[in-house]
Amino acid sequence: MKTIEVKNLKKYFPLRKLGKRYYIRAVDDVSFSIEEGEIVGILGESGCGKSTLGFLISRLERETEGDVFFRNQKISGTLRLPKDTRRRIQLILQNPYDSFDPRFTVGESLLIPLRIHKIGSHDLERKRKIYEYMEMAGLSPATNYYERYPHELSGGQVQRLSILRAMLLKPDFLVADECVSMLDVSVRADVINFLLNFASLSKTSMMFITHDISLGSFVSNRIIVMYLGKVVEIAKAKEIVKNPLHPYTRILLSYSPVLFEKRKKIPIKGYVQPLLEKPKGCRFFQRCPFSQKECSEIDPKLVEIEKGHLVACHVVS
Ligand SMILES: Nc1ncnc2c1ncn2[C@@H]1O[C@H](COP(=O)(O)OP(=O)(O)OP(=O)(O)O)[C@@H](O)[C@H]1O
Ligand SMILES: [Mg+2]
Repeated sequence: MKTIEVKNLKKYFPLRKLGKRYYIRAVDDVSFSIEEGEIVGILGESGCGKSTLGFLISRLERETEGDVFFRNQKISGTLRLPKDTRRRIQLILQNPYDSFDPRFTVGESLLIPLRIHKIGSHDLERKRKIYEYMEMAGLSPATNYYERYPHELSGGQVQRLSILRAMLLKPDFLVADECVSMLDVSVRADVINFLLNFASLSKTSMMFITHDISLGSFVSNRIIVMYLGKVVEIAKAKEIVKNPLHPYTRILLSYSPVLFEKRKKIPIKGYVQPLLEKPKGCRFFQRCPFSQKECSEIDPKLVEIEKGHLVACHVVS
């Protein structure tokens, strides 16, 4: 069963400038699905709409158009979800301090959602579970952290707590938005392993948002590459690394120092199309080293080039 299906999803933010109305096309006609237990990496540069897509799917943001389905049930059209569905879809925010109320100790912030969703039969059992997860996430001894307030902890510690809070609720689908970018390299691997072990044990599907292509390809089964609100390429993670097709993906890979040291760098030219302009043609054509005439005129459709490998590019398809 598909855990998440997104159909022609759009999010336009209206903006008034000098009396005229403009739209920021943060997510522009995006369609894809995520299977049970699958980890899908969302890659793309800052501002391309990754977080907005995560908010739309976890229903923190209302769409302009399009549909979102969770296990074949339509969840778009409203921000009100049934209580159980709310629990089943969890989001780990880019800034972990946003997910903790500063008036509560972190222990209380972990305990309250478990009470609300009736996970565990009494508080002692819930507390035991919280301690166990804290130790697993490297917050040891757990009793040292439970009674503290978020501002008394480091960003990395709060980020680990926000990950384990999402996991305690046993979600079917998890949106992890740059969830390790605030952690230092020494603990990043531990936290990633904690997240992956949890996801594989409980068959949780995940949308792993990152702008780090080497991390994204390590963590994910499949990768979706976005550019200015559009999906430009979808393929298995291994395939993206071995055989990137879209010029933007190829450029991203050629600049990744970890995975592709020996790959020849592709120079990037031109400018980023302003988001407020009504787009015409491919959104990448001003920067694309391979662009042709039609690229500036016709918006390329996402087409399947090989089985499971989709790309939106006139030059490639
Ligand atoms: N509430 C909002 N109102 C107006 N514009 C918004 C709003 N939220 C996001 N945007 C715009 O939508 C675009 C996409 O933003 P988003 O936060 O989704 O990008 P991102 O890919 O997550 O970037 P980053 O990697 O920096 O986190 C940006 O141009 C941003 O300025
Ligand atoms: Mg973001």
